[in-house]
Amino acid sequence: MKLSNISLLATAALYGRASAFSTVNNNAPVTRRTYTELNMRQPIMAGNWKMNPATEADALNLANGFCALLNEMADTCAMDDKEGCTEVVLFPPFPFISKVKDIVAKNGISVGAQQVYYEDKGAFTGSVAASMVKSVGCEYVLCGHSERRTLFSDSDVNINSKVKKVLEFGMKPILCIGETQEEYDLKITKEVCAMQVSKDLAGVSKQEMKNVVIAYEPVWAIGTGLVCDAESANEVHKYIRSVLSKMYDDEVAQSMRIQYGGSVTPDSVDGLMAMSDIDGCLVGGASLYADKFARIVNFQPLE
Ligand code: 13P
Repeated sequence: MKLSNISLLATAALYGRASAFSTVNNNAPVTRRTYTELNMRQPIMAGNWKMNPATEADALNLANGFCALLNEMADTCAMDDKEGCTEVVLFPPFPFISKVKDIVAKNGISVGAQQVYYEDKGAFTGSVAASMVKSVGCEYVLCGHSERRTLFSDSDVNINSKVKKVLEFGMKPILCIGETQEEYDLKITKEVCAMQVSKDLAGVSKQEMKNVVIAYEPVWAIGTGLVCDAESANEVHKYIRSVLSKMYDDEVAQSMRIQYGGSVTPDSVDGLMAMSDIDGCLVGGASLYADKFARIVNFQPLE
C-alpha cells in the first residue's frame, strides 16, 4: 500500500488529469483505474473555511464559484467518481452547511462540520450535537483542530470523546494533530504527535479506524504562510504511521490517510502531494478562494 511504489505522476497520467486551469478537453479515451485497483490510498483534499465568509450569500458564491471552476476543468479528478478520484470535502460554518451541501453534492463533494460537542443532547447552550450535523448531511467532522485546542481549551480527553461520538453516528473524524512553535523549537514534534494520536484515538477499534483520517498540522504553519517543507512533513507522516502500527498494526498504519495542513497553497501543493506518505491537504486560507482551492484539489504531483 505504499504510494512510493507507484509514481503519482504516472497515476495522474493514467487518470488523464489535465493541467489545473486547462479547459483543453483531451478526448483520447482514458482508461481510468481506481485508487483501490492501484492499491493506493485515495487522496483527500479538504477546505476548512473556519469562521468565514461573513454571510450566507458569500458562502454560496464561494461554493458556486468553486464548482463552476471544477466543471470547466477537463478531466478533473476532483469531481469524478469518488472511489477512483480525489475526495473533496468542504467544512463551512454551521449555518451554511445545508445550502453549501446542496450546491456541491452535484459535483461529488461532501461537507463536514468543523466541530461537535460530545454529548447527545440537552442543556448545552451554543453547542451542536453529532446527530444534528449528521442529519443535515455531514460526512466528516474535524476533531482536535489546534484552534479548538488553544482558543476553546479542547483537551485530549474531550477530543477523544468527540472522535468516538462522531464514529458512533456513522461519520468520519478528521483528527488534527501537530506541534506548536515552542514544541517545534524544543524538537519534540514526534513526541507531541505520538501523544496526541494515542490519547485522541484511545478506545477506537481497528474496524473504526477505517473511517478515521488524520491531519498533521504543525501549529506554527497554520495561517502564517510558513509551510512546512514537504520532506520534513513526510518524515512526520511516516512517524505517525509507525505509531499507528504499534497501536494497531501495519495494515491500519499503511491504509490510514494522513493529510498535511498549514499554509497550503497552489504553489506548495504539488511538492507536498509528491511525497510518499502525504495523502491530501487540510486547507484553511486558500480554500476561501475558489480558484486557489480548485488548483489545490487538482494537484499535479511532481516526480
Ligand atoms: P491555513 O491553510 O490558513 O494555514 O490553515 C490551515 C488549517 O488550519 C486547516 O485546518
